[in-house]
Amino acid sequence: MSDLYYSDYIELDTILNSQHPRSFEKPEDGNDEMLFIIIHQAYELWFKQIIFELDLVRHIFLKDRINENSPDMSNVIHKLKRIVKILELLNQQVSVLETMTALDFLEFRNYLLPASGFQSKQFRLIEAKLGLKMEERHKREYYKHTRRGSLSESDLQEVNRAESESTLKQLIVKWLERMPFFDERYWVDYESASKADADKFWSDYRAIYQGGLSDTEGGRLAEFDKVFFTEGRGDLSPKAMQAALFITLYRDLPIFQLPFELLNTLSEIDELLSNWRYRHFSMVRRMIGIRAGTGGTSGAGYLEGTLSQHYAFREVTELATFLIERSKLPGLPGVLKEKVSFSV
Ligand code: HEM
Repeated sequence: MSDLYYSDYIELDTILNSQHPRSFEKPEDGNDEMLFIIIHQAYELWFKQIIFELDLVRHIFLKDRINENSPDMSNVIHKLKRIVKILELLNQQVSVLETMTALDFLEFRNYLLPASGFQSKQFRLIEAKLGLKMEERHKREYYKHTRRGSLSESDLQEVNRAESESTLKQLIVKWLERMPFFDERYWVDYESASKADADKFWSDYRAIYQGGLSDTEGGRLAEFDKVFFTEGRGDLSPKAMQAALFITLYRDLPIFQLPFELLNTLSEIDELLSNWRYRHFSMVRRMIGIRAGTGGTSGAGYLEGTLSQHYAFREVTELATFLIERSKLPGLPGVLKEKVSFSV
């Protein structure tokens, strides 16, 4: 067998022969369409890697149990942190494209119709695999059809399929619901301030939380009860919300460090994706003002809507609403601190 050759291994010829500008033929007549194509290709390659990592993480979470101190947990966090780094890079890349001005873009914009990033199947797959649902999207009617400028029939089917599989968010909810913190056997030596019989920790916590609310936050306690005791929030059940808050509160204890890191990384991914949405939106405003997009949406207006609405882990990020100061945290019972085990 012959020696492996660099460009064969990474199929460089295929990659480097895949730029076909539509607005010019000879490089000497060229414009920024070459940059426009290359930057989109670079994005799509990184999207591919993000999907690869997400599938791996989802696969690990599909196991019935993952022990928080096992290689699985570190692996999950490691992969998610890699996604964070890729997203940071993708945010920076916007400024390369911004070296193109609105007039430069006009030189080839009409050649693109009706294609646009709206048709990026991989971007939709990332959103879907993270847990963003079709019905939660801004202007969801745009997604339902496969007319000109939308996803093709087969791409839409693939996105729908990804949505119907276990999403990272669903798997995280199940994992949170499995957390054994509130098993009675861990609370036998808990010293309650409120002396309530059941759920002593939560009645103590609720009283402290109430004490910290200002006069203008009248409805907040009712919301607290709804979120943690009756309805939950968004896709997270009360049980999952309790576990997520508990991990966030006691993250300094060794046993909660990895779970906290996981939740924090999910918020980071959401934040970086929304940073990207913002950078893309403001670049679009500079390039085309408030004209409709080549893909047929309202353009910047549509993108601004996605920015405020498309978060996969909003419930986790907004847990901060329900925190109290560290110094006021109820002390945890010794049994819980010593014996709690995630692998039960
Ligand atoms: C001159 C540069 C760009 C302009 C003017 C632009 C414009 C737009 C517009 C107007 C939309 C809304 C859909 C439509 O009606 O067309 C859109 C969506 C989108 N674009 Fe761009 N875009 C640019 C660069 C990029 C780049 C470099 C990427 C990287 C992959 C990208 C990815 C996307 C994605 C993923 C969407 C869908 C967003 C969503 O639905 O949440 N765009 N773009």
